[in-house]
Amino acid sequence: MNLQGTDIQKARSILTAEGLVAIPTETVYGLAGNGLSNVAITRIFEAKNRPFFDPLILHIGDISQVTSLVITIPAPLQKLMETFWPGPLTVLLPKSQVVPDLVTSGQDRVALRIPQHPLTLSLLLSLDFPLAAPSANPFGYVSPTTAQHVADQLGDQVDYILDGGSCSIGLESTIVGMEGDAIVVYRKGGLAIEEIEKLVGPIQLTDISTSKPAAPGMLIKHYAPSKSVHWKQDWDGPWDETVGILGFQHLHPQLPAQNQLLLSPTGDLREAAYHLFAFLREMDRWPVQHILVEKVPDIGLGKAINDKLTRATASRTKTN
Ligand code: TXA
Ligand code: MG
Repeated sequence: MNLQGTDIQKARSILTAEGLVAIPTETVYGLAGNGLSNVAITRIFEAKNRPFFDPLILHIGDISQVTSLVITIPAPLQKLMETFWPGPLTVLLPKSQVVPDLVTSGQDRVALRIPQHPLTLSLLLSLDFPLAAPSANPFGYVSPTTAQHVADQLGDQVDYILDGGSCSIGLESTIVGMEGDAIVVYRKGGLAIEEIEKLVGPIQLTDISTSKPAAPGMLIKHYAPSKSVHWKQDWDGPWDETVGILGFQHLHPQLPAQNQLLLSPTGDLREAAYHLFAFLREMDRWPVQHILVEKVPDIGLGKAINDKLTRATASRTKTN
């Protein structure tokens, strides 16, 4: 059986029959199903082992499709959508009755986004329903940035993996909504906050982590590989073969190079974002016990990278 491929027609017929297809996007791979079908949505939650209180993003192919899914669009969010779609931006908008409560976990707002990937865009434009798609990883694990990552972890759960190569950005979308007049960023991601502020002025950051967060990407331990992850600067254990380092630009002198990966030797934060999840996954397979990670400059995509690293280093509270 051919689980992976680039056959959009096949993807389309599986999705139309309420099956699940992993889809490539510019951020990470998504685990997609018909976003208006409770059967398909339930399958997504089950495949990921994801709690039903954690809502799903609906993916659409064209901005005109927003109209039937929402009640209103606040002007600043409209501006962001027009500027950054297709792209790594998700907006929270008051949902219409068309959107099943399962998608939003009973909340009043629905998360919407148009992804920037040619295969997935043409798939979306061929469908007459939106695709609900969380990142295609088991709940609580690092997001997948290649078709192989999906096959490794969810191969038994999906009917097909649309292989669109590695994700060009490598961080999940930035999630934005409004509370009163305030523009709120709920998850730092592939669209830098500076880019958003340039367009709509200062934003608020909501960095909450409870068992029922507004955006559970905020769950403290949400991007963790299964090894223990520590900040390099705080490490007081041995510097030996039990340790691997995920550095930014420079190798650490106390360990052999084979125990280290660098996110970007040239110091490019886009390159670092692109490598982040794939490298965490790779190091998770190394015969080391501890992964030491290094902070990157806290600007642009660096903010989202540091946010993911912080969550990966948080002590393991089994929330998932
Ligand atoms: O880049 C992305 O956003 C990827 C690709 C596949 O599009 N998707 C993704 O989905 O990261 P997921 O489910 O792994 O993360 C979506 C986040 C979750 O933290 C969820 O809680 C939040 O979005 N979210 C979704 N709908 C929401 C809603 N109605 N209100 C508040 N938060 C919401
Ligand atoms: Mg996710």
